[in-house]
Amino acid sequence: MEMQVQHSLEQYGYLNLPVDPKIDLVSEIKRLKKEKNALILGHYYITGDLQDISDYTGDSLGLSQQAQDTQADIIVFLGVHFMAETAKILNPNKKVLIPDLKAGCSLAESAPADKFAAFKAAHPGHQVISYINCSAEIKALSDVICTSSNAQLIVDSFPEDQKLIFAPDKNLGNYINSVTGRNMILWDGACMVHEKYSLEKILDLKARYPEADFIAHPECEKPVLIAADFVGSTTALLKYSQKSAKQKFIVATESGILHQMQKDSPDKVFIPAPAIDSTCGCNDCSFMKLNTMEKLYLCLEFEQPELKMDPELMQKAKAPLLKMLEISRKLKN
Ligand code: 13P
Ligand code: SF4
Repeated sequence: MEMQVQHSLEQYGYLNLPVDPKIDLVSEIKRLKKEKNALILGHYYITGDLQDISDYTGDSLGLSQQAQDTQADIIVFLGVHFMAETAKILNPNKKVLIPDLKAGCSLAESAPADKFAAFKAAHPGHQVISYINCSAEIKALSDVICTSSNAQLIVDSFPEDQKLIFAPDKNLGNYINSVTGRNMILWDGACMVHEKYSLEKILDLKARYPEADFIAHPECEKPVLIAADFVGSTTALLKYSQKSAKQKFIVATESGILHQMQKDSPDKVFIPAPAIDSTCGCNDCSFMKLNTMEKLYLCLEFEQPELKMDPELMQKAKAPLLKMLEISRKLKN
């Protein structure tokens, strides 16, 4: 069995073992979770069944705060690799599991550490703010981390004359520059999901549903953000759709969020914004969608794949993360 598990982990990034179709996955996952004192953290972009079985479903900031506060022995992260890394950095002595090690992030990959280190060296006197969607190596090269929920707050925490680098998402960086009046130097990275929205198709939808609000995540490109009635992180978009008197929303972020939006506002209508090359009318993050109920079950049962990280790297990446959490905590209180 050990050999087989090892082999499938290397080959697939997850435990590719047969799961008896007669197994009630929901009750088995709940039983294992309790037995092992495990906490399941799920991002809004995973499928609805996984969101519903998570102990906490949220955005990157909320998930980091949960990871920081947990008393669990094991954290199972239903999201992507950099999110599980964040949980591990905050809990170096806990076991952090990720159902599929290949759940990466195109945005995180758009900033290779060696190239970013050279970019930073070419801009002396600059402080580095990195969006949490980056590798632990980039975090270790940063002064503070931010998420889409607190990016403006983090930027505002620096004196106005402080020279800043923002990485890796140029779209979020551009957006924060426009709302804060800063002139941060931007790393040229982007998310392949959020860059795929078609402004033309969105404008067609807006014309077809003039009563709808168009809401967008700041990882979208500038022309899409200009067309939006509201721009915010996944949690901000969710709250906006709950509180708004509007009944219809065109949503430009990964389609997994629609599950929570529909749950919170069952009578409202949510339309996924169309992508340039999509025929289904929605935009999925293929990395997030690598998480499945079967992989979660196997991951809990065998406590594999486990995320392993270099202790020295974790130590270096922790300080900018803690700085972000500290600034955000002040906002909450
Ligand atoms: P949030 O910070 O809104 O959770 O977004 C994370 C993300 O990956 C967006 O693509
Ligand atoms: Fe990364 Fe984009 Fe997927 Fe978010 S949606 S996890 S930024 S690839």
